[in-house]
Amino acid sequence: MSAVRGEFSSRFSFIMAAAGSAVGLGNIWGFPTQVASNGGAAFVLVYLVLAFVLAYPALMAELVIGRFARANAVAALQKVARGPAGKKLGAATGFYGIVVASLILSFYGIVAGWMLAHWLEPLTPWLGLQAGAVHTIAAQLVFTLFFMAATVAIITGGVKDGIEKWSSRLMPLLLLILSLLILYVFTQPGAVSGLKVYLIPDFSRIGDRGLIVSALGQAFFSLSLGVGTMLIYGSYISKQENLPVLGGLVTLIDIGIAVMAGLLIIPAMYVALENGVEIFDASGALLAEGALVFTVLPALFDSMGVAGGLVGFAFFALMSIAALTSSISMLEVPVAYTVENHGFRRNAATWLIGGTISAISLAVILSFDALFGLVVAFTTRFSQPLLGLMLCVFVGWIWHRRGLLEEIKQGNPQVESSLFWKIWPIYVKFICPLIILVTFGDTLLS
Ligand code: PFF
Repeated sequence: MSAVRGEFSSRFSFIMAAAGSAVGLGNIWGFPTQVASNGGAAFVLVYLVLAFVLAYPALMAELVIGRFARANAVAALQKVARGPAGKKLGAATGFYGIVVASLILSFYGIVAGWMLAHWLEPLTPWLGLQAGAVHTIAAQLVFTLFFMAATVAIITGGVKDGIEKWSSRLMPLLLLILSLLILYVFTQPGAVSGLKVYLIPDFSRIGDRGLIVSALGQAFFSLSLGVGTMLIYGSYISKQENLPVLGGLVTLIDIGIAVMAGLLIIPAMYVALENGVEIFDASGALLAEGALVFTVLPALFDSMGVAGGLVGFAFFALMSIAALTSSISMLEVPVAYTVENHGFRRNAATWLIGGTISAISLAVILSFDALFGLVVAFTTRFSQPLLGLMLCVFVGWIWHRRGLLEEIKQGNPQVESSLFWKIWPIYVKFICPLIILVTFGDTLLS
């Protein structure tokens, strides 16, 4: 029934694909705006700690399950589990992840559509369109559908001709654009004040509960955890590869790009201030979220004259690329399941699922106020931590430790005597579930 499975052709391809999934709007938009609304460098510090002590171990749990089972999330968790009840729980958890990945894609496609609209806005006069034409509801629908179609087109190509090919092209381009933008912003007056806010922590904010919960959520979202994207990408890694090293590299790239995005956006805000743009809200805090990306930054680009046009174009191209390499990883989750467990051809499965998710996106656009926040909260605030917890439980409590070791030893024969093997099993068994439970409880209570 199952089709021949794909495999990444090299270490580089896997790293580009997994980093492509991880690096997305969460890094370039989410991280800097969280920094702006949570006291600057204090947030950066807490985030770095949580990313290493919590997100990396959880990422490893997904990669190991995936490569062991060489299957989609439902089949993989069934394989890891024991006994009929355990297998049912495995299937249910995997399926929940698939639904959540699809729902994240449904809102992510909308936000990506906004990015495309801003990216293409400078072209409106040439297309004979009126200013603002790219921001109507109808245009939003078109941009979201276009973005989804691009995602579908890549995923129909499979692991080598789709995911790997496009991630390996787009990720270096993303790094190049980001670096050039940072260099440019640093030449502008005001950038140094922003750099200070970004780099000098206000230690009094570090124990802030809200800050810690936000940093945890951000770390989970940023590493694409819980919903099976890393599990499915892990299932395409060769048995010769060293998993702890690969996972470590992906984590470092994800954190590195988020930190770089902060180096771009926070100084850019202070350059905007220097140019007369309002960057604080009524309470004196830095503007964040939508206001930052869609008001402050465009106003900054406008104030920069001709160069600003180019900078804006490059910035929204960067956002669109980041979104695309993440969205393909989300779509791969339900597609792999449908192909492997229900015998669909990849092409048919991809268009069918891509079409269904697009229909959900359209419904969300049309009832935006009622649905958008709900879908975001259900998927990222509620489901991702819960699923992350479940995956840690599968690896730490359900899977035989011997089986786990055998899997990690492949590609890393000395792992048993390494620091990784001394620390990580304890982490996924006790520490990660505990921290997730505590912060999750906090989210539920609030
Ligand atoms: N990691 C992506 C980002 O930071 O934008 C978002 C994401 C991708 C979340 C894939 C979940 C996922 F399955």
